[in-house]
Amino acid sequence: MAKPKIMTVYGTRPEAIKVAPVIKALQLDNRFDSVAVSTGQHREMLDQVNHMFEINPDYDLGLMKKVSTLSGVVSMALSGLDEIIEKEKPDVIISQGDTSTAMSAALAGFHREVKIVHLEAGLRTGNILSPFPEEANRRIIGQVAALHLAPTETSKDNLRRENFESRDIAVVGNTVIDALLEAATWDTTFADERLNALAETNQRLVLVTTHRRENLEAMAEIGAAVQELAEAYLDTVFALPLHLNPKVRNAVLPKVDMLDNVIITDPLPYDQFTKLMERSTLVLTDSGGVQEEAPSLGKPVLCMRDNTERPEAVLAGTVKLVGTNRQRIVSETRMLLDDENAYAAMAQAVNPYGDGRAAVRSIAAIAELLGVGERLPDFGPEAPQEPGLDEPRLSDQLGE
Ligand code: UD1
Ligand code: UDP
Repeated sequence: MAKPKIMTVYGTRPEAIKVAPVIKALQLDNRFDSVAVSTGQHREMLDQVNHMFEINPDYDLGLMKKVSTLSGVVSMALSGLDEIIEKEKPDVIISQGDTSTAMSAALAGFHREVKIVHLEAGLRTGNILSPFPEEANRRIIGQVAALHLAPTETSKDNLRRENFESRDIAVVGNTVIDALLEAATWDTTFADERLNALAETNQRLVLVTTHRRENLEAMAEIGAAVQELAEAYLDTVFALPLHLNPKVRNAVLPKVDMLDNVIITDPLPYDQFTKLMERSTLVLTDSGGVQEEAPSLGKPVLCMRDNTERPEAVLAGTVKLVGTNRQRIVSETRMLLDDENAYAAMAQAVNPYGDGRAAVRSIAAIAELLGVGERLPDFGPEAPQEPGLDEPRLSDQLGE
């Protein structure tokens, strides 16, 4: 009898990072055939991750070179994926998160009556316009999904409030923590000499990432905030691995590229980025993934957004929403740099997003969906440990 075929679709950097542990686990699981499909919504930033995790997708639609509008990406992804689905006839399609690629994968699969599994399901801000278009994408994927792999109890609660059945939801943790733990085992050096030199010092380091579409108008404000901070704190280094979106670069670069204590780099390979995050004093970001990773590393995060679909670390006190107003970003960063107590209060290692076993739980839940296995207990602080599971705590593994 043919094995059930699981098609994992991804196309951007964060999806690649978050599906990598699942694809690798599927490849080792002889109950399934695994097909990895990239839409190529990103190019260099995606290739970096594929290279890092040694994943060669079976298909790549190369979309980034062909289109750039939201509808362009979605329409090309739908038609390209439809052909692959028709040829491969998967039993399940895994769609991760909330990008244009993820939404297209879910819809293309649904049109062909394939079971959709939503990895990182149930994240919600409650505002359909923010983040844009991701909040709409995740809701659309949820509507067509047969199985919702929620990272946390909070995300499961969001789905329950929308009347999804409890039996169709598994709380698995976020696979980004699986990826982070794997990266922590790699032997990494920075390719950029300035970062290598910095790693040898005790200098304070503020790590900054920004790319959100709804922040593009405010991007120059974010750049101006970093400029003001860098000019005020000459003993502190500000590192900006800049997203390749030209709109981001054109807004941010003119504000900061002449300052000696600002290090601008291209997007860093995942191992170097996570090493830099571990070396940092604090993080300014509008990224989803970074909001999940930095708390595990005990790094305070000032999140340059007005809302978040990841409230767990905000409630734990390690992430603070500061919006995109220049003065607010500057004053909140100043407080963390000037006030030891304020800093210590936020610099707590918390792991609300995972324990490194999200991929294993995800595959077990998919096996149950396909009638070839049983689910594992849900991830959660209160979840009983599985028998025989005596792994060290996440923060111990990360050297905290
Ligand atoms: C996309 C996702 C967003 C996710 C982000 C992660 C959507 C609608 N948005 O946003 O949810 O948080 O990825 O980074 O799906 N570019 C390159 N090389 C690359 C990648 C991007 O040059 O490797 C440039 C291209 O000019 C591209 C632009 O960046 O057109 C924007 O890329 P796009 O995927 O449209 O949006 P992101 O802002 O990256
Ligand atoms: N990241 C990376 N290199 C960088 C910046 C970020 O590998 O230079 C990783 C980061 O560790 C996280 C992911 O990219 O796992 C987040 O991607 P991004 O911020 O582009 O997207 P989002 O998570 O906001 O969707």
